[in-house]
Amino acid sequence: MAEWFETRSGLWSACWRQLVRDAVLLKPNARSVLATIGRSGAPEARMVVLRGADRRAGSVAVHTDTGSVKITELTADPRASLHIWNESTQVQMRLRGTIQISSGPELAHLWHQMPDGSRANYGVTPVPGSVIDASDAYVRAPDPDRLARLTLRIDEMDVVHLSDDYHRRALYRRDDDWQGQWLAP
Ligand SMILES: Cc1cc2nc3c(=O)[nH]c(=O)nc-3n(C[C@H](O)[C@H](O)[C@H](O)COP(=O)(O)O)c2cc1C
Repeated sequence: MAEWFETRSGLWSACWRQLVRDAVLLKPNARSVLATIGRSGAPEARMVVLRGADRRAGSVAVHTDTGSVKITELTADPRASLHIWNESTQVQMRLRGTIQISSGPELAHLWHQMPDGSRANYGVTPVPGSVIDASDAYVRAPDPDRLARLTLRIDEMDVVHLSDDYHRRALYRRDDDWQGQWLAP
């Protein structure tokens, strides 16, 4: 019987199992790097924690502060890429698509479920990235209106699996109903 990484459907299912598990557990594996198009047109990348994964919709979600620079970047150009590496499964995922930003009352349920320690990430003054006179010259004033959910609608997912004999790579696209296509790794 084929190993999970030897068929395109097996690899695809394993990726979604990981995404859903990571979004629930918020363990180190769930850390991923979000790349956007910076204000100068140059690429920007930063670490984020996966907060949601919906296989049926083909989307994943992360949370951020509405005052952060990435919000300005994504408002100007919603194209983004999310990079995830899982050491234990030896799988790299590159999720490409467009991000929809939501904030305000529609996120009230998320704010209510959130521990105080997490709320403190939303409401830093001055806004993230501002020049300050000393390293501690800022205050944390948790504010539900500063919580933003970034939902990445995936258009394609480029997956690499490393193994001792063969490395395998597949590209899955929304417009071919996620059938996938093997690529040279
Ligand atoms: C382990 C780790 C996890 C992080 N998780 C998030 C996150 O989930 N959301 C977020 O907005 N920033 C997160 N950050 C901070 C970002 O990497 C980044 O510094 C911050 O969001 C400002 O980015 P920006 O100026 O490009 O908007 C995390 C940083 C680290 C080191």
